[in-house]
Amino acid sequence: MATMTKRELPNRLLLGPGPANVHPQIMVALQQPVLGHLDPVFQEILVETAGQLRRLFGTENELTLAVTGTGFSGMESCLANLIEPGDTMLVGVNGFFGTRMADFAKRFGAEVVEVTAPWGQPLAAEDVDNALHANPSVKVVGIVHGETSTGVRQPIEEIARVAHAHGALVLMDAVTTLGGLPVMVDAWGVDAAYSASQKCVGTISGLAPLTFSPRARERLAQRAAALPTWYHDVEALHQYWSAQGFYHHTCSSTLVYGLKAALDLMDEEGIENRFARHQQCGDALKAGLEAMGLSLVAAAGHRLPMLTTVRIPDGAEDLDVRKALLAGHGIEIAGGLGPLMGQIWRIGLMGYAARPVNVRTFLAAFAQILTDRGCTIDADAGKAAAEAHLAQ
Ligand SMILES: Cc1ncc(COP(=O)(O)O)c(C=O)c1O
Repeated sequence: MATMTKRELPNRLLLGPGPANVHPQIMVALQQPVLGHLDPVFQEILVETAGQLRRLFGTENELTLAVTGTGFSGMESCLANLIEPGDTMLVGVNGFFGTRMADFAKRFGAEVVEVTAPWGQPLAAEDVDNALHANPSVKVVGIVHGETSTGVRQPIEEIARVAHAHGALVLMDAVTTLGGLPVMVDAWGVDAAYSASQKCVGTISGLAPLTFSPRARERLAQRAAALPTWYHDVEALHQYWSAQGFYHHTCSSTLVYGLKAALDLMDEEGIENRFARHQQCGDALKAGLEAMGLSLVAAAGHRLPMLTTVRIPDGAEDLDVRKALLAGHGIEIAGGLGPLMGQIWRIGLMGYAARPVNVRTFLAAFAQILTDRGCTIDADAGKAAAEAHLAQ
């Protein structure tokens, strides 16, 4: 068998819900010399990266860093620190990742109150308000900003307002949205938020950016129960990510180079331009799919730009189509999760993958595959509708 340095790997177009393709400049940064985790040069890079993450999260929060691990490591860090056994937490559940947040909270001993909405619909701030009236002991309200299992964008700002009126802290999952949609931690009154490096942030997986407000840190200072985790102690992580640089764990310098390069690219592009690019590509893809005759899953007016969900049409079969895309065109998309498995496809346009050329390439390959399977679709109308958006 060929060694990894000689092995020929396929060059995929990654149009699933992450990881997404990585910009060539980030790939160069990933090959910079490895530095020790306490090297003064690396410490400088950590401090600069934390500053850039603050801007991206729209926050002045001192405790802003990236924990080692993927998005779920960010979720784990936030819940382990914010929840004490017996606390009541309200979780918005209208998809796979809200369900997962509720599961995590239960593992840390929370009594979970679930506020639900059908998969494909956003949560209603009014339902959160009613649940908080009925459960005045709720200490934390947890919401997924972009529900990647359904393609729904949630009204975080309204929900945060309601949660604060009841004296609860707000925890936001920004795994899918950070870097592709505005995430305004301070303006929205979010107390803790986490994300992941491999989606709209645009680098490889392995780091989970997170931020804690002073209010959330007060809660940590007042904990009666010992933290159930050493690794995810965010105050200890903060001491490592600050200028003092106390040893916490052997953070991968390479992963941080990738994250820093991704943040540098955002600065070069301009964050508003980046959001506009995600919106334009997402709109073009959605318009193309609908004009072909396919139906979208997420409720109109609440759709994520970076993740589009579409129902599998009659005549097509989930795995067969995904295999044809991968084998014939090198394109990866994803299937549904939970109750939507086998019912929908999830198509991501995230970070470097959110480009007009990829919308065109995907729609052409997808239309061909569906036509070959006898599905009644209008490929030309799909192409024209997408082009109308891309030409704007
Ligand atoms: C909204 C959301 N939260 C959490 C996660 C978990 O992230 P990871 O798979 O990087 O651990 C994902 C992954 O897709 C996600 O979409």
